[in-house]
Amino acid sequence: MGGLNVKHFTFITLLIVFLVWSSTTFQSCNARRGKHWRQSRATSASLYKKKYKHHGSNHHHGGGSKSKSPKPPGKGHSPIPPPSYDGGHPTINSTVFDVLQFGAKGDGNTDDTKAFEAAWDAACKVEASTIVVPSNYVFLVGPISFSGPYCQPNIVFQLDGTIIAPTSWKAWGSGLFQWILFTKLKGITVQGQGIINGRGSLWWQDTPLDEPIDDESLFVIPITDTKHNNSQTVISSDLNGKMPSIKPTALRFYGSFNVTVTGITIQNSPQCHLKFDNCVGVEVSDMSVSSPGDSLNTDGIHLQNSKDVVIHSTNLACGDDCVSIQTGCTNVYIHNVNCGPGHGISIGGLGRDNTKACVSNITVRDIMMHNTTNGVRIKTWQGGSGLVQGVLFSNIQVSEVEFPIVIDQFYCDKRTCKNQTSAVALSGITYEKVRGTYTIKPVHFACSDSLPCQAVTLNNIKLEPLQERYRLYDPFCWQTFGELNSPSVPPIDCLQIGKPSSNRIQSDHDSC
Ligand SMILES: *[C@@H]1O[C@H](CO)[C@@H](O)[C@H](O)[C@H]1NC(C)=O
Ligand SMILES: *[C@@H]1O[C@H](CO)[C@@H](O)[C@H](O)[C@H]1NC(C)=O
Ligand SMILES: *[C@@H]1O[C@H](CO)[C@@H](O)[C@H](O)[C@H]1NC(C)=O
Ligand SMILES: *[C@@H]1O[C@H](CO)[C@@H](O)[C@H](O)[C@H]1NC(C)=O
Ligand SMILES: *[C@@H]1O[C@H](CO)[C@@H](O)[C@H](O)[C@H]1NC(C)=O
Ligand SMILES: *[C@@H]1O[C@H](CO)[C@@H](O)[C@H](O)[C@H]1NC(C)=O
Repeated sequence: MGGLNVKHFTFITLLIVFLVWSSTTFQSCNARRGKHWRQSRATSASLYKKKYKHHGSNHHHGGGSKSKSPKPPGKGHSPIPPPSYDGGHPTINSTVFDVLQFGAKGDGNTDDTKAFEAAWDAACKVEASTIVVPSNYVFLVGPISFSGPYCQPNIVFQLDGTIIAPTSWKAWGSGLFQWILFTKLKGITVQGQGIINGRGSLWWQDTPLDEPIDDESLFVIPITDTKHNNSQTVISSDLNGKMPSIKPTALRFYGSFNVTVTGITIQNSPQCHLKFDNCVGVEVSDMSVSSPGDSLNTDGIHLQNSKDVVIHSTNLACGDDCVSIQTGCTNVYIHNVNCGPGHGISIGGLGRDNTKACVSNITVRDIMMHNTTNGVRIKTWQGGSGLVQGVLFSNIQVSEVEFPIVIDQFYCDKRTCKNQTSAVALSGITYEKVRGTYTIKPVHFACSDSLPCQAVTLNNIKLEPLQERYRLYDPFCWQTFGELNSPSVPPIDCLQIGKPSSNRIQSDHDSC
């Protein structure tokens, strides 16, 4: 009897010990995963040690960040053997790399650049891995490059927290073209509910000397001379240094395939917010760009030398073009986008400094523009060459837009540009269902004398004036040929029906 009691007692003790152990393990697991991880870390820190001692490895993904972080495979010399196996199942999710695991503080003050770089180094080695930037943290990150080309494909950058840019001039050296760069990757996704904040107000103040201005801006004559006051909240630069003259793009993708950006918000970039160059296969959706209407040079999305691009379901509010399509772009589809404030959706400026530009197969449809300077616009410099061909603007709803429809082949900067005969040719430009209100001029077509615009088709145009701040103008056309497929409001009599008589085809040299 007595012996039995002792055995029984021992068994119960062991059971209690086991239950206590497993409940603490369970607790710490949950605590460390959730967003309350920070608070619970202090109280449960001692338990971690015990657990590590007993098991020799970390059971939980995203954890163990404090002292002995579970280094992902191939990452240096960890005292904890990576990843051990428990009954044949991997005990670590080796595809998820939380920046907190790599020492990021996320307090908005500490420079977390190195932690982000370390997380990238680890994620880069694992196919379809995920970098996690957790919510409820603010990460101060300097200029950074998430660089292939030796990375595994299909990496996901899960952005749920906030990333802010340094406001000290020292962080930017003599000037950089971008702040956050993803380059030479195959399959890269940036997704989540997080925010990229460029804190760019410091950069918006000085205008570069060769800042391009729009030919149409000559028509902006206020009825009453109300000088509007730029009232920007300006963050003063640390130690009063001067920001370099090259302004960085906030988020740039270069030379990559299959790029997806979804969910996130990019705000207050020093310059362009989101840029793709030399990319094939781009999808941007359900995201926002947000900066003040008077922030200089802050394009929303900039495309260059990129093909197979879809942009949809996004809200773009900025101080320059909502979307800017540059040379080398083809098969671009933009739909269900809200634009404003901003300068509208633009192709160009193309052909600057006598360069050749090629743009084709661009569709822009189901767009709402509110309080923008331009609606849909094509702008080229004199002296360029090449061709813009196959452009459709359809179902563009404008309200309070200064110039809803613009072709400007005399785009110029603040200096006067000399007249040149060569031009980027424009052919096959269709406008259908462009409707709403304008505040200066409904249609402005200024085409090249030597290479008139061809096959410009207008269908279902209904634009009504909103006499507000500016003098109003009638539709204007110069050297613009094409068709009017239905009566328009207002009448666009200036369009020349048919083809130009001197039907000059682009020389072979100029063909795209
Ligand atoms: C690892 O995490 C990813 C992303 O949360 C998930 O899709 C995957 O199924 C997980 N893998 C394992 C083995 O738990
Ligand atoms: C513009 O704002 C500044 C300071 O905010 C003020 O001193 C100036 O008088 C304002 N100018 C006009 C034209 O309202
Ligand atoms: C891009 O994605 C498409 C469709 O998913 C796929 O067929 C193609 O191989 C991918 N390209 C690269 C370079 O990974
Ligand atoms: C239009 O945009 C300008 C510049 O951003 C802004 O100052 C103005 O308040 C806006 N007007 C309306 C009616 O939204
Ligand atoms: C034009 O681009 C669209 C995508 O917007 C694509 O589906 C279509 O195949 C392209 N057309 C040609 C002729 O390449
Ligand atoms: C360029 O041509 C336009 C139109 O023919 C003319 O009005 C303008 O004065 C010329 N500019 C220069 C700099 O020659």
